[in-house]
Amino acid sequence: MADLSTQYMGLELKNPIIVGSSELTNKSDKVKELAEAGAGAVVLKSLFEEQIMMEVDAQRVNNMYGSFNDVENYVSFYTRKHDLDEYLELIRSSKESTDIPVIASINCISSSEWVDFARQIEKAGADALELNMFIMPNDPNFSGFELEKIYFDLVDNIQQHIKIPVALKMGTYFSGLAKTFIELSKTNISAMVLFNRFYSPDINLEKESIKASHVFSHPDDFSNSLRWIGILSDQVDCDLSASTGAHDGYTILKNLLVGAKATHVVSTIYKNSNTQIQKMLEQIEKWMDQKGYQSIPEFRGKLSQANIKQPMMYERAQFMKYYSNYRDV
Ligand SMILES: Cc1cc2nc3c(=O)[nH]c(=O)nc-3n(C[C@H](O)[C@H](O)[C@H](O)COP(=O)(O)O)c2cc1C
Repeated sequence: MADLSTQYMGLELKNPIIVGSSELTNKSDKVKELAEAGAGAVVLKSLFEEQIMMEVDAQRVNNMYGSFNDVENYVSFYTRKHDLDEYLELIRSSKESTDIPVIASINCISSSEWVDFARQIEKAGADALELNMFIMPNDPNFSGFELEKIYFDLVDNIQQHIKIPVALKMGTYFSGLAKTFIELSKTNISAMVLFNRFYSPDINLEKESIKASHVFSHPDDFSNSLRWIGILSDQVDCDLSASTGAHDGYTILKNLLVGAKATHVVSTIYKNSNTQIQKMLEQIEKWMDQKGYQSIPEFRGKLSQANIKQPMMYERAQFMKYYSNYRDV
């Protein structure tokens, strides 16, 4: 039987399936069920930077006035403190109920005082921390360079506070994506997750209003992660995990072939329940058996850009050839 184990961020995973941050991982009993269903690791639901900063602000008010002298501040402090305590408890209880790696997660847009809180996440027992960076480059006052600097400042800041491995979950809005990601990978982070899935707007034509686009990914959405992991896996100094559009074991195999160490999955678990994990593992194992592979390192990265004869396959962005030959395909 094939060995599906993989190392990711210095953690030993029994297989490359990581259940990504979402409401699937917001309770320790759900984490336990995911582990029993076969997940290699979980990323807990994200705590928001704003949630942490509200506590920092409330403490500042408290220090200034000696006590909470209005109900509003007290309520704000209590609510936030409650959120943070609850999150630390989620980490502790998830660790107690499973033996798979538990990765905490913070949604952040800046490098500021919230970083102090990461130390408590470490103390609560998280095996690693994933930072979901969602900086939307929509402010015309900020250049690409200024926005990218926030990532480097944050990495520098967080590494002064904690020793557990840190992963950056990245978006795609970078003009010099390859250079930025390669430089970030040299900063002592342990991994990058490609890519984050942003809320996307859509239009309700009937009501002539804005609505949210699909929450879940589609199985065809995997190729952007595949392209960039294929291009970067031989050039970065950290691990890469794919995220977005992995709905079956075959896509996880494709991600491994281009150099990923693991794959985050969320939508397919929502759609098909935890039993999907076992199905994906069986697909991976069956393919490995058919191909005669006993372990993942035997084929991981075999089809990365550096390892194929036609590296242009990763760079081709135009469809010209496909349009002219479309009928023949
Ligand atoms: C309902 C839902 C909630 C999510 N919540 C978070 C979150 O709190 N933090 C985060 O980093 N990603 C969050 N994500 C993104 C997922 O972790 C994952 O990166 C994304 O859905 C792509 O994977 P998929 O194609 O397997 O769904 C969420 C996704 C969904 C569908």
